Amino acid sequence: MSVNQALTIADLKNQARRRVPKMFFEYADSGAWTEGTYRANEDDFHKIKLRQRVLVDMTNRSLASEMIGEKVSMPVALAPTGFTGMQHADGEMLAAQAAEEFGVPFTLSTMSICSIEDVRSVTSKPFWFQLYVMQDRDFVLNLIDRAKAAGCSALVLTLDLQILGQRHKDLRNGLSAPPRFTPKHLWQMATRPFWCLDMLGTKRHTFGNIVGHAKGVGDLSSLSSWTSEQFDPQLSWKDIAWIRDRWGGKLILKGILDEEDARMSLDSGADAIIVSNHGGRQLDGAASSISMLPRIVDAVGDKMEVHLDGGIRSGQDVLKALCYGAKGTYIGRPFLYGLGAGGKAGVRRTLEIIRKELDVTMALCGERDVKNLSRNNLHKDL
Ligand SMILES: Cc1cc2nc3c(=O)[nH]c(=O)nc-3n(C[C@H](O)[C@H](O)[C@H](O)COP(=O)(O)O)c2cc1C
Repeated sequence: MSVNQALTIADLKNQARRRVPKMFFEYADSGAWTEGTYRANEDDFHKIKLRQRVLVDMTNRSLASEMIGEKVSMPVALAPTGFTGMQHADGEMLAAQAAEEFGVPFTLSTMSICSIEDVRSVTSKPFWFQLYVMQDRDFVLNLIDRAKAAGCSALVLTLDLQILGQRHKDLRNGLSAPPRFTPKHLWQMATRPFWCLDMLGTKRHTFGNIVGHAKGVGDLSSLSSWTSEQFDPQLSWKDIAWIRDRWGGKLILKGILDEEDARMSLDSGADAIIVSNHGGRQLDGAASSISMLPRIVDAVGDKMEVHLDGGIRSGQDVLKALCYGAKGTYIGRPFLYGLGAGGKAGVRRTLEIIRKELDVTMALCGERDVKNLSRNNLHKDL
C-alpha cells in the first residue's frame, strides 16, 4: 500500500509501523506511565457530538485562516517533535518542505536531528522554532540567535518539560540517538531495510542543534549526559521576560493546561498559548487537552490566541477544537506517522487527509468558512 492509498491517519500509522524500527516507532506511539492521558487526548474528542444541518448552501467553502497573524491554508500546524529525523532520514527537512508547500506552519524542535540551518537551507518561507530552556544559558541565547538568523517567524517556548516524564517503552527499547548497535537494535533495523537505506544516504544521525554548538558536546558520548542533565527544573515565569527580549518576535507558550497558567501567560506578554499536555508524554493523569480548552478560552480567549494540540487524529477533531474557540491546532503523531510511512509524500498525505475531513465535516455542519465555526456547531447536551 502506498501513502496515497491511505484514507485515514490510522492507515498511515500502520504503514509507519511496518517501515520504522520498533524503538523509533514506539518513541512516537507512547505516553508517560499508564498512557492514560495519551489515550484520553484522543478519546475525549469522540465524546463531542456535532450538529448536523441540512439545506444550507455549501458551495465556495474556505478553510483559510490566520495563526498569530500569518496566513495558513488551514489552521493546522506541525507540532515540534524531537528525533524526527529518526522516523525517516532527514525527516525535519522533508516535513518542513511538505508543510511549506501545503501552506501550514512547521515547528522545528530544539531536539531535532536536522539543525535549524539544515531546515533553512531547504525552505523558502519562515518556519517556527521550538525552544527548550537548558541550564547552559549561553547555549540557549545562541539558539535564539540562530533561530533569528534563520528568519524563523515565531518562537514556541515549551513549558511542560522542566523534567522528563517517564515513558516505559523508551526505557524498555533502550532508545538513543544515534541508535545503539546492540544485537536487539541491529535486528530492529535489519527488519526495516528501506529505512536503513535512506539512513545510509544521510549524515544526519544525531541532535543537529546541539552537537558542535553546546559547550563540551563535540562528540556523541558527551551528548547523552548533557541532554539528560540540561533541562532546567528552576525555570520560572520570570524567565519569560529575558527570552522574550532576546527573541523580539512572536512568542507562543506551549504546555498550558490550567486557567491560572493561561492568565499568567497573558500577563507575560506572549502572543498565543498552546493548550497541551505534551501529547500525554509528561504528566500522566492530567486532563486531556480538548477537555480543558473551553475553560481556557473562556479565561483568556478574548485577549490572546489560544491554540490546541493533543489527540487530533482527523479533520473532525480539528473542527471540534475550532468550535471551542481554538484559533489554531497542531498535529504531532499524525505527521510523524505520515513521515515514517513515506517521507515528504507521507506528510503531504497526512495534511490532505485532515484537510478533506475538515472540509466535508464543515459542510455537513452547514458552515462554509472555518472562521465562522463556534460552539453553536456542537451539541451542548449530548
Ligand atoms: C515523538 C514526539 C516527540 C516530541 N518532541 C517534542 C519536542 O521536542 N518539543 C516539544 O515541545 N514537544 C514535543 N512533543 C509534543 C508535541 O509537540 C505535541 O505537543 C504532541 O505531539 C501533540 O499530540 P499528538 O501527538 O497527539 O498530536 C513530542 C511529541 C511526540 C509524539
